[in-house]
Amino acid sequence: MKKATHKSSAPILNNRTLAKDYSTIVPILKEGLRVLDVGCGAGAISKGIAEKVKSVVGIDRNKELIEEGKVLFGSLDNLELIATELFDYEPTEKFDLIVSARVLQWLDNPQAALKKMKTWLKPNGQISILDYNHEALAWQPSPPTSMQVFYQAFLDWRSNLGLNNAIAKDLPDYFEKAELQQIEVIPANEIYNKSDDIFLHKAGIWIDVAKVIGKKMVAEGFVTEELRLKAMKEHQYWIATEAEQMVMKLKEVRGKL
Ligand SMILES: C[S@@+](CC[C@H](N)C(=O)[O-])C[C@H]1O[C@@H](n2cnc3c(N)ncnc32)[C@H](O)[C@@H]1O
Repeated sequence: MKKATHKSSAPILNNRTLAKDYSTIVPILKEGLRVLDVGCGAGAISKGIAEKVKSVVGIDRNKELIEEGKVLFGSLDNLELIATELFDYEPTEKFDLIVSARVLQWLDNPQAALKKMKTWLKPNGQISILDYNHEALAWQPSPPTSMQVFYQAFLDWRSNLGLNNAIAKDLPDYFEKAELQQIEVIPANEIYNKSDDIFLHKAGIWIDVAKVIGKKMVAEGFVTEELRLKAMKEHQYWIATEAEQMVMKLKEVRGKL
């Protein structure tokens, strides 16, 4: 594995693992399965899935991440990474299991995406979607006012793009509308405590959001540059001092053909 020497362009995504970041699907990963991972990023989670099943295809519209994944995980013979927009993808062979983590939150047409995925299932195939309810994010104690204001502006920016901030809550409804059967809802919150090694990294995710997406939010008038910089600085201090816990609310929802 070349991971140790590779400088990651997307550390948050590339540090994810099946065990930490999509553990609820582990019980349904069986040796003989052909699996599709939709919106796989560079394939950090797909790699963990590939270690447990027959084969995995990971698709993502971000070509750079897919190329990076080929460097990082290319040694796995049963993992194929393809750069494609999901709505353009037409597999040559159908799948037993389709998984998609933290992707539908970025689509303004998640219902259409789910219906499209359903067409790629083998008979008796299953779909699993893992996603957030950003409206229910919980911090202990409250973060600085600047970050609270920035976070609300982030939610407003997302809503304005037609993105569902509480998609985890609505997934069962999307599954019913797609006429998927045997729908199951599994709690999958990410709980990060101060005592965890990864707390600084995870709680710092909002500083990364402010650094990257925050610039677009400023350009589009959702937040001032002064507020963006203040939120980054004060949140950094809060994480290093008072912060005790951050809980990101997620659900995994499954359904069968
Ligand atoms: C937040 S990342 C999640 C990556 C990975 N599944 C994980 O849980 O770490 C969302 C990914 O979905 C991809 N994506 C978003 N919309 C997509 C689309 N319409 N077609 C293909 N990929 C898409 C993005 O490029 C990004 O890599």
